[in-house]
Amino acid sequence: METTTNSDGSVLALPGAQSGRKSSIDAGNLTPNQIVALLDKYIIGQKDAKKSVAIALRNRLRRQNVSDDLRDEIMPNNIIMIGPTGVGKTEIARRLAKLAKAPFVKVEASKFTEVGYVGRDVESMIRDLVDQSVAMVRSERSEEVREKAALLVEERLLDILLPPVASSRDSEDDDVEGALELPSADEHDKSIEVNRRSRRKMLERLRSGKLEDRQIEMDISGDAPGGMMQVFGPLGQMEEIGGIMQDLMSGLPRKRKKRRVSIAEARKLLEQEEVQKLIDMDSVVKEAINKVEQSGIVFIDEIDKIASPSSGSGGKGPDVSREGVQRDLLPIVEGSNVATKHGMVKTDHVLFIASGAFHVAKPSDLIPELQGRFPIRVELKSLTEEDFYLILTQPENALIKQYSALLGTEGVELTFSDGAIREIARIAARVNESVENIGARRLHTIMTNLLEELMFNIPENFSDEHVEIDETMVKEKLNHVVADRDLSQYIL
Ligand SMILES: Nc1ncnc2c1ncn2[C@@H]1O[C@H](COP(=O)(O)OP(=O)(O)OP(=O)(O)O)[C@@H](O)[C@H]1O
Ligand SMILES: [Mg+2]
Repeated sequence: METTTNSDGSVLALPGAQSGRKSSIDAGNLTPNQIVALLDKYIIGQKDAKKSVAIALRNRLRRQNVSDDLRDEIMPNNIIMIGPTGVGKTEIARRLAKLAKAPFVKVEASKFTEVGYVGRDVESMIRDLVDQSVAMVRSERSEEVREKAALLVEERLLDILLPPVASSRDSEDDDVEGALELPSADEHDKSIEVNRRSRRKMLERLRSGKLEDRQIEMDISGDAPGGMMQVFGPLGQMEEIGGIMQDLMSGLPRKRKKRRVSIAEARKLLEQEEVQKLIDMDSVVKEAINKVEQSGIVFIDEIDKIASPSSGSGGKGPDVSREGVQRDLLPIVEGSNVATKHGMVKTDHVLFIASGAFHVAKPSDLIPELQGRFPIRVELKSLTEEDFYLILTQPENALIKQYSALLGTEGVELTFSDGAIREIARIAARVNESVENIGARRLHTIMTNLLEELMFNIPENFSDEHVEIDETMVKEKLNHVVADRDLSQYIL
């Protein structure tokens, strides 16, 4: 138990810290083919987009291995995904980040305004990315020390239930008469032995889970002073100051207060404390920043909203500010140092994926410098009835699987006939055509409608163990809605 000490240095030596880093390197080593295969598990179609992001991810790795002088000449493979709503743009980026185990943030370009104006400044996306990365690394490290923390928590619970008899006699000796020393020493040893035995028994009971509901009184650390303090301000810089203040505050000793809690609760509270003590935050932050610099992904949604359509000769006002946001974006996308509360972060290798419908503005309406920084354009296609059929059934997280799993928890087996799934896909395609094309999101609204009654009536008003949704049921439930355009506008 040599590393259970809480000193900061010991944690660095933990073997787990190494293995965590290794796994992320493996994930970063995926070949384009492997990446596409992994994306295929969740996203139907959109081959071109998958290929582009796979190449971009791999090229980042390749670029990092090029010799220094040439590396800076090679432009990052930032991508613009162009396509209608609900066809998988965000989903592809999100999945990509997940499978690469990369820090990832999604931001809406339209939320940003130029530095100096009200709104969020562009650099905040990098600060968010770092925060996300810190949380990610921290939770990896917590996993690694969880077992060790659990043992320490057991010790602390035992201390509360059965305080140990002081084992060192020196402290007592000061007050005790010399003549009494011998017999009391014997008794003392005995009571230590007894205490030790009952602790062992208590430990068994603790582990058996029989004591989870028992109430105990314990010291818990309260909020850090100033924990309730919030800094309001329109600017990102203000948020940042708030963050720094809070960091400073959290360094102050926390107030401890007594509370009665169940053992189960105490276990959770103590585990948080022990995990916190076992983790070396300095090295977490170091790894997190490294992760951001080497493998971070920023997804900029609605980039078309900050492009000014060239035809628009009127209202110059908003156009100027949109262009300002683009100009603010430039250095970050090109690669620069951004100050965060965790330190400086270089954005040279961060992968930027922008996305937009580009109905009004075109990618060529972005300022030329920014266009140059997003050299890869990829178009995503509208989804067809056949795509919907596949989306309902194939992905690991397919809607049909989700609903079946939900009802499975109530002991009801939910299945769909093939005809029913075809019918749902057909209705989705039809409503998209007649009302508004919202892509695969349509499947969500249709499924909620179709299954609403079932979801409401289970468990009380339902005795069957198995429901099969067939084509007739789908038609009965939905056809009258589909037929009425007004109605489907509101319901589907
Ligand atoms: N090709 C697809 N395969 C599987 N699921 C999809 C596909 N396209 C969309 N979806 C599902 O539809 C939902 C919306 O998709 P997503 O968020 O990717 O839309 P988007 O293209 O980013 O649209 P927007 O332009 O509105 O942001 C998600 O739940 C996603 O799982
Ligand atoms: Mg999106």
